[in-house]
Amino acid sequence: MSDGLEKILFDPMKHPEWVVPHSPEWYKQLFGEVGEYKYPWKSTFDEPRAEMILAEKINSSLCEGRLLDVGCGHGEFAFQFALNAKEVVGIDVEKGFIEKGNKTKSVENINFLIIDGNGNLPFPNDYFDVAYTKKGPRDWYHEGNRIVRAGGTIIGFYHAGSHGALRELFPGLYSQIPKPEANDILRVLNLHGSGLTDINVELLEEIEYLSTPEDVLIKKCFGQSKKLRDIVWQECLQDVERIFNKYATSKGLKIINYYHLLTAKAS
Ligand SMILES: C[S@@+](CC[C@H](N)C(=O)[O-])C[C@H]1O[C@@H](n2cnc3c(N)ncnc32)[C@H](O)[C@@H]1O
Repeated sequence: MSDGLEKILFDPMKHPEWVVPHSPEWYKQLFGEVGEYKYPWKSTFDEPRAEMILAEKINSSLCEGRLLDVGCGHGEFAFQFALNAKEVVGIDVEKGFIEKGNKTKSVENINFLIIDGNGNLPFPNDYFDVAYTKKGPRDWYHEGNRIVRAGGTIIGFYHAGSHGALRELFPGLYSQIPKPEANDILRVLNLHGSGLTDINVELLEEIEYLSTPEDVLIKKCFGQSKKLRDIVWQECLQDVERIFNKYATSKGLKIINYYHLLTAKAS
């Protein structure tokens, strides 16, 4: 897609104001500014979105049982399962997200609790029928196996990077990383001795179209400070506009989001 002539752009990750995405400090900063975990850039998608595939997997395993969301954020994704569940519980370490989830809930059978998903989970053995994480912690599978009944379902859904236009066309601003493989996720999850069986991993590919040049920058600066965002806009906007306008289609600038989807059975 690129003619290989794009210059190296300003790299915000090298600036001292950069906060590592998904670190506790980053979540605090994000919550302090916007009060929820929600992508702020404008875009459209080709169907099906990866999270619709995840939702279908959860619904087809749930059958009016008990459901746990590990790392639920402010709970927006978990709400949709309340009608198909006896009980839904969302847990997260970020107090602000949990308070927002409990404040905005409109049904009785869903609750949000401040709990470290990587620690001991305060639920009885075999309590849940299904437990999942959507982009949350990676070290909860041993406990997940204990609190989900034998034969129940455990699901892990993790973002595995965005490729296509972003990394090819905006070098520097977006760093080069190799296309992920399905089994990459098994190297970073702590599944050893978890007791899970029937472990299966899929790599989902989702097509997204960023709507405007500014959305390229908004995506890169998600959760960063206003000070750093102002610097990035000043350093990059002109080049990003030029490149975006050269390569965008009528739908916007096409990017590919990869997700790892792990499914397993509790024993
Ligand atoms: C990428 S966000 C995803 C939020 C939500 N699941 C969603 O998809 O909109 C990851 C969430 O996991 C939470 N988290 C990270 N580490 C955690 C841990 N050890 N225990 C519980 N929650 C955690 C973060 O606070 C954050 O809300």
